[in-house]
Amino acid sequence: MTSVAEQERGSPASGKPRASGGDNRMKMLEATMKRHQYQADALIEVLHTAQELFGYLDNDLLLYVAHSLKVPPSRVFGVATFYHFFSLKPQGEHTCVICMGTACYVKGAANLVAAVENLCHIKSGETTPDGKVSLMTARCLGACGIAPAVVLDGEVVGMLTPESLTERVKGWVS
Ligand code: FES
Repeated sequence: MTSVAEQERGSPASGKPRASGGDNRMKMLEATMKRHQYQADALIEVLHTAQELFGYLDNDLLLYVAHSLKVPPSRVFGVATFYHFFSLKPQGEHTCVICMGTACYVKGAANLVAAVENLCHIKSGETTPDGKVSLMTARCLGACGIAPAVVLDGEVVGMLTPESLTERVKGWVS
């Protein structure tokens, strides 16, 4: 089944990422690479951001990063497969990535994590046994203006409360 992330991501390998349907994750990834002046040294940092935004790193995304940072794809794939914290496959059917960066943390991100952990009976970094929901945390997603920020199935949503987040995630578990 094609994931929402795949549908929305478009084809970054073409060198021209598409950001449609309100999906600004490619723009956020681009901003991270720009901030690092497209330096090859920033590869791990950029892959971290990509995973935080998309939930996992697929081939197109890895190729896009390789192309943007002018790093051989073999090195990018090597790094992505070497470190256990990178995932090359989608995890649960639905993904909830909660930003725990400073701006989001001070606006109560930890309460959001607790709310989803309680609702789904999983800890951050885990997927429910039925494969429905994966919960992850991220460092700054680059959306501090709408803190606390959460990526719900690829959609960046801001200013959530434990109640409003629970309301959204509830639909995934019922
Ligand atoms: S700290 Fe959460 S988006 Fe920046």
